[in-house]
Amino acid sequence: MSQADDHAGTRRDFLYYATAGTGAVAAGAVAWPLVNQMNPSADVLALSSIRVDVADVEPGTQLTVKWLGKPVFIRRRTQEEIDEARAVALADLPDPVAQNDNLGSVDASDENRTLDEAGEWLVMMGVCTHLGCVPLGDAGDFGGWFCPCHGSHYDTAGRIRKGPAPTNLPVPVAEFVDETTIKLG
Ligand code: FES
Repeated sequence: MSQADDHAGTRRDFLYYATAGTGAVAAGAVAWPLVNQMNPSADVLALSSIRVDVADVEPGTQLTVKWLGKPVFIRRRTQEEIDEARAVALADLPDPVAQNDNLGSVDASDENRTLDEAGEWLVMMGVCTHLGCVPLGDAGDFGGWFCPCHGSHYDTAGRIRKGPAPTNLPVPVAEFVDETTIKLG
């Protein structure tokens, strides 16, 4: 790991936690502009790969990290969220493609969206695929994310279920490099 990598991965000033519940949704909505004001320096922005410490992320919460100038949601899902996502029939998905850069063109089953086999970790770009707003977590008709800009509802696997967004939230290249560190890019 280069020094620059290490520096980016341990920067806490552009990381924040959003916990479950409506209070946290509101907090998330106002937190992003604040985080934006703390833009990392140009050299950090240019890093194509960063490491994120996820040791403190509790089930049912998510971490939002800024990567390549965009928010990335790293969610540790509860068993309920996993079960809910896995119970959805593929025929009910408006976008049948996983949109997972780690897997190529495969179907959008929950198993093809998550980082680990058990489905606990979901990593995806926090950018609505309609016109680019940042969706709110723990919100919407499907218990996942909701984009208030024009009303797109994503499920607990980040798949579009209702509204104008054309595709699922994209899963970027990501992997666990040790038990508590996720590398993006
Ligand atoms: S930008 Fe999200 S619904 Fe339009």
